[in-house]
Amino acid sequence: MTAAIETRGLTKRYGRARGIIDVDLVVEAGQIFGFLGPNGAGKSTMIRLLLDLIRPSSGEARVLGLDTRRDRLAIDRRTSYVPGELSLYSELTGRQLLTYLGNLQGHVDAPYRDRLMERLELDPTRRIKALSRGNKQKVGLVAAFMIRPELLIFDEPTAGLDPFVQLEFEHLCEEARGEGRTVFISSHQLPEVEHLCDRVGIIREGRLLAVETIASLKERALRRLEIDFGGPVEAEAFSNLPGVRDLVVKDGTLRCTVMGSVDALVKAAARFEVRNICSIDTSLEEIFMAYYGSGEAADKDAPGEAGHAAA
Ligand SMILES: Nc1ncnc2c1ncn2[C@@H]1O[C@H](COP(=O)(O)OP(=O)(O)OP(=O)(O)O)[C@@H](O)[C@H]1O
Ligand SMILES: [Mg+2]
Repeated sequence: MTAAIETRGLTKRYGRARGIIDVDLVVEAGQIFGFLGPNGAGKSTMIRLLLDLIRPSSGEARVLGLDTRRDRLAIDRRTSYVPGELSLYSELTGRQLLTYLGNLQGHVDAPYRDRLMERLELDPTRRIKALSRGNKQKVGLVAAFMIRPELLIFDEPTAGLDPFVQLEFEHLCEEARGEGRTVFISSHQLPEVEHLCDRVGIIREGRLLAVETIASLKERALRRLEIDFGGPVEAEAFSNLPGVRDLVVKDGTLRCTVMGSVDALVKAAARFEVRNICSIDTSLEEIFMAYYGSGEAADKDAPGEAGHAAA
């Protein structure tokens, strides 16, 4: 099956400033993909390259199997894009604008469009210029979904949306995936997309650091463990166990951090009487902060091989 997005060595320099550097990324069709990175990481640059709004310094990109530079129009017809900062015809009402955009596309399912407006609680009778930021964003979202494109690209879509609308947006993305369509969402916040995305790519300072499923990120999560023994235990019994760090045994209580399986630790503990075991998962956000941190911190703390982007 053709990938929805495929880039090879994709690089954009703005004069001497970097946009993105040597990005190799594959996004499979039928997935919701999160493209995560802090401000200035290169998310919008990547998206503009995919849409041929800007041209790469080197490397290439294919969208829906087509070359972004040669086949822009064909890609445009099959793709919706909502930029972070929407500029819309401000004198039109939401309905007028959506009708206009629909006529340009030529194949809009009007009842579906109206349902989208209801679901996102968009008042279509108000002029764009009178809409708040979030309500303007809704016009962009309706325009994107109403043509049921094969690929939806959103640049920080949920900034400015209230939680209800955010949830509805997520449902719409899931419905699109259910129909085999692909959704690409940029964000600088993992919690915003972690329950929605199948996979996430992490970009920092223009480079793609990793592409992971949320499940595999979770597997790498550290767990803080506390084991309460009825009586004193020897710390030596727990030294050198695989994945166990920061071990402290004091007053019959063991505390440590475990990366990966807790099997070896539990088996070592079973030689003693165990009164209680308490485990706290560190959050996914902490794993992400390791990727986002300073270069050194990312190399040291990032669980897994930072720097290789498994596509
Ligand atoms: N037109 C431009 N001219 C010069 N530098 C640019 C231009 N556009 C982007 N850049 C630079 O490229 C880098 C990536 O910018 P980009 O807008 O892609 O980041 P981003 O990840 O979308 O950030 P944000 O989360 O703030 O939207 C930044 O260092 C930015 O300053
Ligand atoms: Mg941006």
